Amino acid sequence: MKNPVNVAVVGATGAVGEAMLKVLDERDFPIAELHLLASARSAGEKIAFKGRGITVQDLATFDPKGVDIALFSAGGDISKDYGPKFAEAGAVVIDNSSAFRYLDDVPLVVSEVNPEAAKNRPRGIIANPNCSTMQLMVALAPIQREVGIERINIATYQSVSGTGRRALEELGRQTAALLNFQDPKPEVYPVQIAFNVIPHGGDFLDNGYTSEEMKLVWETRKILGDDTIQVNPTVVRVPVFYGHSEAVHIETREKISAERARELLSTAPGIELVDERKAGGYPTPVTHASGNDPVYVGRIREDISHPRGLSLWVTADNIRKGAALNAVQLAELVLAE
Ligand code: A2P
Repeated sequence: MKNPVNVAVVGATGAVGEAMLKVLDERDFPIAELHLLASARSAGEKIAFKGRGITVQDLATFDPKGVDIALFSAGGDISKDYGPKFAEAGAVVIDNSSAFRYLDDVPLVVSEVNPEAAKNRPRGIIANPNCSTMQLMVALAPIQREVGIERINIATYQSVSGTGRRALEELGRQTAALLNFQDPKPEVYPVQIAFNVIPHGGDFLDNGYTSEEMKLVWETRKILGDDTIQVNPTVVRVPVFYGHSEAVHIETREKISAERARELLSTAPGIELVDERKAGGYPTPVTHASGNDPVYVGRIREDISHPRGLSLWVTADNIRKGAALNAVQLAELVLAE
């Protein structure tokens, strides 16, 4: 086992922070000291880790000296304010927000796709991609390597856990309210999410796309190292608690058969193929993704409308591979250096 290191989890009380602790525990990450940080609201609370209660500390008054690896998941503003401070104090910061993802001197890394990029981090910061990009990259990197990808058309079916704990509560509350003939009262989302779908994530931009959609464009190019890839995303929020899904239509540079794609993806790291052409022979967030590590791929077929088109369905637990698991895998890469 590697020498244990001092780890800080920033946003430890959030949906992703909680999953980070679970993944650190499951993977037996070698921890000397564990610091759990959140806002002053949560300071003093105890969170169980490996049978011990660890007291949550207020990030604002915490001294980062001595922290080796800091996993940040408390939103972009907190990352911008505190990430550089932790890095200056000597920690490697693994940041789950979009605060640093698009900076040239911050690597954006999916552990199965471009792990070597994590080593070059002049700011001491490594960015974890957006959850939707993460699972897309795991599924598409093997195809990109084999035949090249020219264009990606994607519609996402994103669960509410991606928005955070308050959104999980909102879906539960609205569902209960509606089943009791009461008003669903939207608070986190602009319109009712229970028994509905919302074609909107993030902020609207001048080009008509949303910020969540443009993340898919920018991050795909950066991770695959190819600025010529065209990406056309539609982000949709669906009333699912955990697990994002994606209907993905790609146009490759050279033709690839569905059979060859299936063969490639069946042995690719981080992927589990569930692709039988029968009822239930495909992965869904509830039956496969939720609570599990792999990116599940199914419905692989050649696009009948394009000579170099391939369609697939991708689903993964957005909190695990989409955030916490990849962050811990990045920490493992750092540890292995
Ligand atoms: P807290 O629980 O104290 O508010 P989620 O995305 O699931 O809502 O989680 C957000 C995480 O970010 C929580 O752990 C939350 O802590 C933390 N957080 C939010 N605001 C701050 C802040 N000002 N300082 C430190 N942590 C914060």
